Amino acid sequence: HTYVAIMAGGVGSRFWPASREDKPKQFLDIAGDGRSLLRMTFDRFLKLTTADKIFIVTNDKYKQLVKDHLPEITDQQILCEPSRNNTAPSVAYTAFKLHGIDPEANFVIAPSDALIVNDTLFAANINKALRFTAENDALLTLGISPDAPHTGYGYIQFLDEQTATDDVYRVKRFAEKPDLPTAKGFLKSGDYLWNAGIFIWRAKTILDAYERYAPEIYALLSQGLNYYNTDEEQSFIDEFYPQTPSISVDYAIMESATNIYTIPAQFGWSDLGAWGALYHESDKDKDGNVLTGQVVLEDTHNSFIRAPKGKLVVVGGVDDLLVIDEGDVLLVYPRNREQEIKALRSRVEEQH
Ligand code: GDD
Ligand code: MG
Repeated sequence: HTYVAIMAGGVGSRFWPASREDKPKQFLDIAGDGRSLLRMTFDRFLKLTTADKIFIVTNDKYKQLVKDHLPEITDQQILCEPSRNNTAPSVAYTAFKLHGIDPEANFVIAPSDALIVNDTLFAANINKALRFTAENDALLTLGISPDAPHTGYGYIQFLDEQTATDDVYRVKRFAEKPDLPTAKGFLKSGDYLWNAGIFIWRAKTILDAYERYAPEIYALLSQGLNYYNTDEEQSFIDEFYPQTPSISVDYAIMESATNIYTIPAQFGWSDLGAWGALYHESDKDKDGNVLTGQVVLEDTHNSFIRAPKGKLVVVGGVDDLLVIDEGDVLLVYPRNREQEIKALRSRVEEQH
């Protein structure tokens, strides 16, 4: 009854100009290992199950890209959203579809944009989680030990008392994207983990949670019970999905539900949210620079520089700089202001 779903519908706009509306970061070789992030995520799950059990939830405009990157999957395994309504509707659609295939479906749903260091430990953690959710009406999420008061993550307060199985903790409170003072308090208290955004649950359990905590989404998508996994699935989705509210699963479900559990993850994890995360994860030269492609440096430190194929990029006399030369855009920006890139991209794309 084990299934996997990979969410691959975001834009990854803080990775602009590498990430574009028509080719978001999950389709790029961001980690520099010769595979796209989507391909890496898919390969990681192949250690856990077979290709026919892995579903991709994406925007319909990326269907062909998904097929190019994952030639072994069929059209039935690609869930195509006609609009971008954030992850709560995506997760509900996935749960309805998998429940239609197998009423006992027990699945992991994961983002396609995280860097995971140890695939073997990852598989062990997911298997433990799946064993737990197969037996319990639990919404399980993997937790990461926090090392900074990051405001872009969900925070999980776990109870120190151990529940049924080893390493599976009951969650007291889930707080999505707290403000900085709150995040600092969470970090100091020592009893919070970051939400990795990798969720494990039975289709039935998560659908019950939607019925209770996100009744609007449940009411809309449950009208398709006779259409999921038939020729009419796409036309049903095209009509009803855009009417769902745009909200993430973290706000819609995780902040409200009371049957949340967590397993503190043992594998190394990094959210590839912006260029800085990649800088921190990468090997550096003796001056702290991370370089891709043909780059020549003169008196340059702690910079992140990417040259495209066939172009020599020469940088001199600067520190802490981002230099990203991709396609028709060259971006030069202070590395510590990377969070501005999302808004910068919108302004630039409006004007050009
Ligand atoms: N199919 C689909 N449709 N996928 C989507 C959509 C959508 O409309 N929107 C986002 N995604 C995908 C993204 O591609 C990514 O893989 C995943 O869903 C998570 O979305 P993000 O937009 O990256 O979420 P976040 O980073 O702000 O927050 C989430 O992840 C954090 C860890 O990285 C939350 O779950 C936080 O609680 C968590 O800490
Ligand atoms: Mg993210």
